[in-house]
This record gives sequence, C-alpha cells and structure tokens, in this order.
Amino acid sequence: MSSIISASAEETVAHGQTVAATLRRGDVLALSGELGAGKTHFVKGLATGLGAPVSVTSPTFTLIHEYADGRLPLYHFDFYRLDDADAALRIGLDEYLFGDGVCVIEWAEKFPALLPPHTRWLRFTHRDDGARAIEESPAP
Ligand SMILES: Nc1ncnc2c1ncn2[C@@H]1O[C@H](COP(=O)(O)OP(=O)(O)O)[C@@H](O)[C@H]1O
Ligand SMILES: [Mg+2]
Repeated sequence: MSSIISASAEETVAHGQTVAATLRRGDVLALSGELGAGKTHFVKGLATGLGAPVSVTSPTFTLIHEYADGRLPLYHFDFYRLDDADAALRIGLDEYLFGDGVCVIEWAEKFPALLPPHTRWLRFTHRDDGARAIEESPAP
C-alpha cells in the first residue's frame, strides 16, 4: 500500500478504491489522524471499491457501520466516541477482526492494543497547502 498526497476529497475516495482492489479476507486497516483529515472519505472509497452500495451518512455517531453487499463484507468502526476499550469488546470487536470480512477503524490510535499484529496503519495529515497526506506508518 503506497503513501500519497491527495489534493481533493475525490482523490481520497479514489485512493480508497485503489486500496480496496488489494483487500483480502481478514485484512485490518487502522486509520489515524485528526478530524477532517479525510478518513471517512477514504472509507467511502473502500466500500464503493468493494462494490457495496453506499449511503453518505457519517458513522461518527455509531460505533460500527456494516457494508455487506460488496466483494467482501466491510466493517467500519469509529473509535472517536469510544470511552474505553471494554466498550469495543462488548460490541464484539474481536468477532469482526477475526471474522469473514475486512475491518477499517477510524481513530484507531485511541486503542491500538485492541488491534491484531497484522493491522496496517494509515496516517492522515493536513498539509499546509490544504492537501492531505495519506501514509502507511508503523503502529503507534
Ligand atoms: N484531499 C482531501 N481528502 C479528503 N477530504 C478532503 C480533502 N480536501 C478537503 N477535504 C474535505 O475535508 C473533509 C474530510 O472529511 P472526512 O472524510 O469526514 O474526515 P475525517 O473522517 O478524517 O474526520 C470533507 O469536508 C472534505 O470535503
Ligand atoms: Mg470520520
């Protein structure tokens, strides 16, 4: 998975679609980076790239959003409003992580210890020129 500079929301979605083509059952993608950096747009690209019909609701107010109708099931978590790791375990995080689909987690840096060693980490950052950098990075 390569690192890119994205100049627009559309480019970030397109990058998600490129990454989607490489995904395999059991993959876990952890997204880190501040609000507005483009994580949710990237996930839209993953979902549409897998062929799932996607509504454009933000998952920020729910802990998990499931896109079931693509090439692989995609489980989209957002740890932003999660207060403690136990809450994630209570909703069955492990069953998704070790299940039959792909997991992607926004704000994953809040609880990195919940994620398995094969997790791939992507860091989203705002650049001074307004673009976003999306970089594969080591686990925090
Ligand atoms: N290069 C870019 N990539 C992604 N979003 C961008 C980019 N440039 C501007 N934006 C805007 O920034 C916001 C990103 O929102 P979102 O994807 O929800 O971020 P996050 O999930 O990281 O909080 C959107 O309003 C989008 O239109
Ligand atoms: Mg988001």
